[in-house]
Amino acid sequence: MSDPKIVKLVDESSNRSSELPLISGTLGPACIDIGTLYKDTGHFTYDPGYGSTASTKSAITYIDGDQGVLLYRGYPIEQLAEKSSFLEVAYLLLNGELPKPTEFATFEHDITHHTMMHEAQKNFFQGFHHDAHPMAMLAAAVASLSAFYHDDLDVENPSDRKMAAIRLIAKMPTIAAACYRYSIGWPMRYPRNNLEYVTRFLHMMFEVPSEPLQMNPVAAKALDLLFILHADHEQNASTSTVRLVGSTGANPYASIAAGITALWGPAHGGANEAVLKQLEEIGTPDNVESAVLRAKDKNDSFRLMGFGHRVYKNFDPRAKIIREMCHKVLAELGVNDPLLEVAMKLEEAALKDDYFVERKLYPNVDFYSGIIYKALGIPTEMFTVMFAIARTAGWIAHWIEQHETPGSRIGRPRQIYTGADVRNYTSGDKR
Ligand code: CMC
Repeated sequence: MSDPKIVKLVDESSNRSSELPLISGTLGPACIDIGTLYKDTGHFTYDPGYGSTASTKSAITYIDGDQGVLLYRGYPIEQLAEKSSFLEVAYLLLNGELPKPTEFATFEHDITHHTMMHEAQKNFFQGFHHDAHPMAMLAAAVASLSAFYHDDLDVENPSDRKMAAIRLIAKMPTIAAACYRYSIGWPMRYPRNNLEYVTRFLHMMFEVPSEPLQMNPVAAKALDLLFILHADHEQNASTSTVRLVGSTGANPYASIAAGITALWGPAHGGANEAVLKQLEEIGTPDNVESAVLRAKDKNDSFRLMGFGHRVYKNFDPRAKIIREMCHKVLAELGVNDPLLEVAMKLEEAALKDDYFVERKLYPNVDFYSGIIYKALGIPTEMFTVMFAIARTAGWIAHWIEQHETPGSRIGRPRQIYTGADVRNYTSGDKR
């Protein structure tokens, strides 16, 4: 009788076979461990886009895409969204457990006291073109942290790794706000230690030297919640990028900078900016029908931004929370944004359309988040930067986990070569 924990793969052409063990995690489907497949059969596997491939074991985040479940370290996202704070979630992602009050106080103190940018880094911004996209500035500025903090950093040393995590989570809002202020020609603001994480960020964004900033606490609460929802999402494109770069032994700032560039694409975190631009283009609820028709047209590359997800084939649980929050925040801030009506009409039209139903395309985390950012006064180009601030907690947690996992190897996928067969060089006059 065959062992149920083994999958046997036979190559009938060569009669070579491989017995591949099944590996189970705490939750989710078992995976076939193909580590010996090439040695046993001489074959690689082919899975472009990694639709059937687990690239690592991880204890940080779990998603059940069919049921619409998202857990950080076992805790349902709905509970964290209701009861926790972004900094507490960052601690949880990094350390695996919710902090005791004294642990949290130490963590918050450490973050608060590493928020300043190196003075020389401010000069770095002067080199950017005045209308540079903030994501371009963010990626470059975070990569430049490698130049400021590289010398004393040993990626094999746990306390150095922890310090890099603190620095990144602490400095990301400062750098993000600097990107914004540079783009509008405002002087940069120093972080104020008497404020908590999100409020401090909003001050660095919006405070002007000439008058005190009147801050509605609803704004800070809403942004904190958005940061919780964006903090991690297992092996998505940017996290996988961070891990791939990290697998080479590269320092954490360079690894996270690579994650930022991956996040920027409109299929990933850049979708929140694209959603708002698309809603503005659609303009009024009357135009929704034609937008849906365009999205279904195979001869048109137009897609409904903020719809669909590689893993969620049901409602994205984050989208459910954000949708509800969107109505509440707009009401509490007294904002009447006609784009919310367009978004609701678009969601309603797509959810009853066969094309979207058959393909299980639901609104994702980016669909309503832009409307909230807009209500908070955050400009559209900064939306993906907001995502990056939050996701830094997840990226660095994964980078640390990777370094703590014994036997981690450099990531090195293979390919199916489809180029020319071997051929001889010909001199210029014979080509
Ligand atoms: N509008 C119209 N059709 C779509 C959409 C969409 N937004 N998304 C997927 N489809 C269709 C696609 O054309 C394909 O149809 P068919 O089977 O007839 O060829 C089918 O649905 C499957 O799509 P896919 O591109 O193979 O799916 P994927 O898992 O490779 O891509 C995705 C997932 C998120 C990149 C894609 O759904 C998409 O481009 N969505 C719009 C961008 C977006 O909102 N991205 C944010 C994702 S969530 C946040 C994050 O990751 O950062």
